[in-house]
Amino acid sequence: MKLWGGRFDKETDSLVNDFNSSIRFDARMYREDIAGSIAHATMLGEQGIISREETASIVDGLRAILADVEAGKVEFSEDNEDIHMNVETLLTQRLGAAGKRLHTGRSRNDQVAVDFRMYVRAEIPKIIDMLLKLESVLVKQAERNADAVMPGYTHLQRAQPVTFGHYMMAYANMFKRDITRFEDCLERMDECPLGAGALAGSTHPLNRNRTAELLGFSKPTDNSLDSVSDRDFAIEFLSACSILMMHLSRFSEEVILWCSWEFKFIDLDDAYSTGSSIMPQKKNPDVAELVRGKTGRVYGSLITLLTVMKGIPLAYNKDMQEDKECVFDAIDTVELCVPVFAAMLDTMTVRPENMYRAATGGFINATDCADYLAKKGMPFRDAYTLVGRLVNHCIATGKTLDTLTLEEYKGLSPIFDEDVFDALSLKTCVGQRKTIGGPAHDEVLRQIGVIKSFVEERAGK
Ligand code: ARG
Repeated sequence: MKLWGGRFDKETDSLVNDFNSSIRFDARMYREDIAGSIAHATMLGEQGIISREETASIVDGLRAILADVEAGKVEFSEDNEDIHMNVETLLTQRLGAAGKRLHTGRSRNDQVAVDFRMYVRAEIPKIIDMLLKLESVLVKQAERNADAVMPGYTHLQRAQPVTFGHYMMAYANMFKRDITRFEDCLERMDECPLGAGALAGSTHPLNRNRTAELLGFSKPTDNSLDSVSDRDFAIEFLSACSILMMHLSRFSEEVILWCSWEFKFIDLDDAYSTGSSIMPQKKNPDVAELVRGKTGRVYGSLITLLTVMKGIPLAYNKDMQEDKECVFDAIDTVELCVPVFAAMLDTMTVRPENMYRAATGGFINATDCADYLAKKGMPFRDAYTLVGRLVNHCIATGKTLDTLTLEEYKGLSPIFDEDVFDALSLKTCVGQRKTIGGPAHDEVLRQIGVIKSFVEERAGK
């Protein structure tokens, strides 16, 4: 018979049993469920709602169940629907009457809300840690390649020269924001919904401050209806995961381009590449492609939960059981992607000579040519037009700004002088871009320093 059996004359249909139960996926919250129950029982005992002896036997019983689950000795049952009823049923089987008192002043609605929150709360530091490791890899690659000039692109057309170190720091800034987003999410979810009951609190003198404290929350949630119907923390978490995956996916796209023969800016390590079953020459960037592909399922999780929640009146509705699989899948996916992506970057070989070659032989220094004229007094818009004509001339004659003669330059404007060649060298173009955030050597070192101290601050915690 079900825990709720009293009101029912019939057994649940087996189809409904299967359909309704969530133990297949919520069993993974057994630790949180048991911890929540221990806190609840402890508080009930302290408040004199149940006896001290019963409290002690409930707490011992729950600890024993935890040990048995971890030792693989417990088989959860679909008949008990979810992790909450499975644990409670086990406890009652073992303790009899005392076990039946555990659920005093509690509902599965506040129970699942606290379990799920604690589960997500425990995963976030793991993800942050993985991201900090990724940041360290980016710092390492940036330091090594702070002077490796490469083309920067807009519209995937060569635009202005940057360095590989500068490029790595661009992504490091994205992941830094991701880390702080996860931290914000942790901070906002730091309120304990336990004690909200089914939806309207309890007539028992529960001490919600105490259960919050026992479970490591700063305070209890402030409204019981909101407590049991709120999944914002999970939506926020999935948003942070989605933005992170979007960053990883963009980076993956670049890695895939960079290791193509058309670019060859990098080579992935053999251990992080795969071959083809038919084409002997192939070395494929499967890791990056799979990360890019898996981004879709994480976005899917976010949309799933937003959609599940959008039409639900207060307070708990069974729809909300659909909150877990998507979050668990996003956690698994993110925790799978970040470490392998970091290792792939850590082991790649950078080809500065190919980057340099791609940055020369075109017109990547055209802005610098216009800036050269502007610095000599010509209005920038006029300089811009003049350089456009120069570029046209180069294209018509098969030259570049580096191979034009001084006479050709002077043919278009007498302002041009011998110093134009130095002004247009890649070394100058990159080295003089010293503005905050720019690719000049010292400025990139400063950017690296910011990321390093960001990582170190957190490593100390
Ligand atoms: N398995 C349920 C869930 O995950 C637990 C809460 C059930 N509450 C209820 N009133 N049926 O949402």
